[in-house]
Order: sequence, then structure tokens, then C-alpha cells
Amino acid sequence: MKTDPAPAAPADPLRGRRILVGISGSIAAVKLPLVVSALAKRGAQVRCVLTPSAAQLVSPVALASLSRERCYLDADQWSHTAARPLHVELAEWAELVLLAPLSATSLGRWVYGLGDTLLAATLLATEAPVLAAAAMNTAMWSSPGVHGNWERLQGFAGVLPLGPAEGLLACDRQGSGRMAEPALLLLALESLACWGWQRDWHGRRLLVTAGPTREWLDPARCISNPSTGRMGVLLAQAARLRGAAVQLVHGPLQVEPAWLEGVESHPIETGAELQQTLQRLQPQVDAIAMAAAVADHRPARPLAHKSDKAGCAEAMAAGWEAVPDLLIELVQHRLPHQAILGFAAHSGEVLPQARAKLARKGCDLLLANPIDQPGAGFGSALNQGWLLGPGCAEERLEPMAKLAMGHLLLDRLGGLLATRCPA
Ligand SMILES: Cc1cc2nc3c(=O)[nH]c(=O)nc-3n(C[C@H](O)[C@H](O)[C@H](O)COP(=O)(O)O)c2cc1C
Repeated sequence: MKTDPAPAAPADPLRGRRILVGISGSIAAVKLPLVVSALAKRGAQVRCVLTPSAAQLVSPVALASLSRERCYLDADQWSHTAARPLHVELAEWAELVLLAPLSATSLGRWVYGLGDTLLAATLLATEAPVLAAAAMNTAMWSSPGVHGNWERLQGFAGVLPLGPAEGLLACDRQGSGRMAEPALLLLALESLACWGWQRDWHGRRLLVTAGPTREWLDPARCISNPSTGRMGVLLAQAARLRGAAVQLVHGPLQVEPAWLEGVESHPIETGAELQQTLQRLQPQVDAIAMAAAVADHRPARPLAHKSDKAGCAEAMAAGWEAVPDLLIELVQHRLPHQAILGFAAHSGEVLPQARAKLARKGCDLLLANPIDQPGAGFGSALNQGWLLGPGCAEERLEPMAKLAMGHLLLDRLGGLLATRCPA
């Protein structure tokens, strides 16, 4: 049988972009060489600017080597050979700024408009979008001054603030203060590069389901599917970066754990657990994206203890029962303002199956994606398919990164919400 050639992979949105990395004096600065190296390997042009404190904590030589560019320090701005002020040069050169880690001191300078370091002056002079990742000791983070400064920063146009995560800090405190992990910094930069700075989901509450469910025959055997959860998790993180409050209900995932930072996570395993969690959370949200791959059937008589082969065959012969259709249940309990997006994985001819499914399920939007073609499906970095909705044109979506697909779906879902509850 002749198969279509694999579609060309979409270009990396970070490739060729001019990214300024601003590093201030937090111990989390030691993680930045990994980020700089990853950006350079993805083809970005990277320049690093360090505060004097940062230069005590991480090597400017290492950063220069990994970025393939010289590294900028405070002393560099006082050169009699420079025709233009260095902070203005760097500010205008940057297409994107990654400010990580952001210390309490650098945050304070920035929100009060002080420019007494090269980095501080550059931040005031730049018009590029800034991804800012705070990092500090738990008590510092919860001190009223820092808290107030962080609140002020939320109102800065063009700034995407990433609050710190919980964890064990270098000062041996357990709590909030850990800088967002490098994998999340890279994802958030990619989001800024491909979809720009948007806070259009601010004030909205989104519920996303992701990953597979498992139905157990006995404690050692289950029926499931190869879903990794990547599509749902990236949709959830894209919404969080656009300002939404996100609840993520997920089966066992195979994604970067850092991609779950900043969303409220509800791990489940079986369809029954997913059903109960959805019943509890549905009344609290404005929109739902049902990306989980729910196993359709479960054993009618699961065994409490691991059986031998014969016992297993007997349990299977006892039959299977259908797992309730959770998308249909969500639609039945939909509140008047709620918008619901369903997902449908198909092999073969996608569109006719998708039309029938949309009619049966009654959701507002349905993304039907093939699982038997390159550029889509379980575990793929890409997705594609057809987006359908009652009364909407059927929209063909060409292969794109799952993060970009997440953003596109948020655009469509957000558009629906706006018609239901105009601001
Ligand atoms: C080992 C070490 C680790 C530090 N870690 C942090 C930190 O995580 N966050 C923070 O805000 N300050 C931290 N500080 C304190 C800052 O370096 C200090 O407040 C400094 O003024 C920050 O200046 P800058 O923003 O110009 O880099 C640390 C200091 C030291 C010596």
C-alpha cells in the first residue's frame, strides 16, 4: 500500500530569534547555563546579561561559551568606545527577554523604575516581551514588600510573570520560592515566540483532562491506551500562560513534570475516578477541554488479588462493561455559560466519523485527529486534524506543534465564551 510522505515538521519557533537572557543574584542562576545551551542548540541567538551578584553565582565564561556570544557585565556599560549606550543596544536587539532567576532586589528595581545595573537599565529600555521567573527563599517570597512588588508586576503589559514553584530550596526550607524548572522556561519562551504575549484568559477557569485511563482486571493487569497526555497538558499550560486558572485532571502521564507547574493537578487512574472528579469540578469552571483518552470498557468482574493465567482468562471471559461516556455526561450537565471541547482520535477517514461523533456527543467543538498518520497521534510532538462545531465551518488544521495546537484551540474556545458572556 502506498503511504503519503511524512509532512515537513513545522519550524522551531525559537530558531533564529534574538533572545536576551537576564540573570540576577539568586542561587537558581546555576540552572541557566542549561537553558542557554538548549536555546543555542535550537538555533536561537542568545546574549546574557548578569548583575554583579549573579556573576558571583554563575560563571560568565561558561555562559559566553554556551551562548556562542560574549556575556555582558556591569563594567561593560562604561566603555568610551561604545557609540550608543549598551543598555539601549541590548534592549533594542532583543526580540524576547528571559529574566531568570529574578531576585527580590531586581524585582524591586524594575517595578520602581530604577536602572542602576546594566540589567535593570536594559529592562526599562526594552519593548520586547519579558518572561520573568522569580526565585527566592520562602520567607523572602512571602514578605509584604516582595509580595507587593510582584502584584505590581502583574499589571505590566508585555510581561509574563512565572511565580515560583513549591519544593525544597537551597536554603533547606520547604515551600514556595523555587524558580520554574528549565523545561517550563523553554516552553513558556516557545509560547511567547509562537503565540505572543496574551492574557486573554485572565479571569477564566478552564478544566482540562489529559492522558489515558486504566481499567484493572487484577492488581497486575489492566486495559489502557498509549496516550502520553502531551496534548492536554500543553493545552492546560498554554491556558495558564494566557492567565487562566486551570484544573488538570490526568491519568498516568509521560511528559516533562515541569509542564504541570502553575496548574492545579488532580491525578486519577480509572474512568470511575475521572467521572467523580469531573462531577465535582464541572460546576466551578467556564470551559472544559476533554483531551483524556478514556478506556471504553472495563472488566465486569475485576479480581482483588493477582490471578494465574487460567484465572486471568476466566476473569476476561466474565465479560466487559462499557465505561460511561464522560463527554456526553459533561454536555448533559453543561451550565448555560460553559463551552465544551471534545477530542476524537480516529484512524482511516477522519471527517465522516467526526461529524457523526459531534452529532452524537453534542459538545460545542470537536477536534478530530488521526492516529495513523505521521504528524499526529499518541506521543507525537505534533497534532493535526479537523475542528468541528455545530454551525461552524469545518476547519482543517495542518500539522503543528501540540503547544501551538493548544493555543489555537484556546482562541476558538475563548471566542465561544466571549459570545456567551461578553465582557
Ligand atoms: C548564595 C546566595 C544565594 C542567594 N539567593 C537569592 C535568591 O534566590 N533570591 C533572591 O532574591 N536573593 C538571593 N540572594 C541575595 C541576592 O543576591 C541579593 O539580594 C542581591 O542584592 C541581589 O541583587 P541583584 O538583583 O542585582 O542580583 C542570594 C545571595 C547569596 C549570597
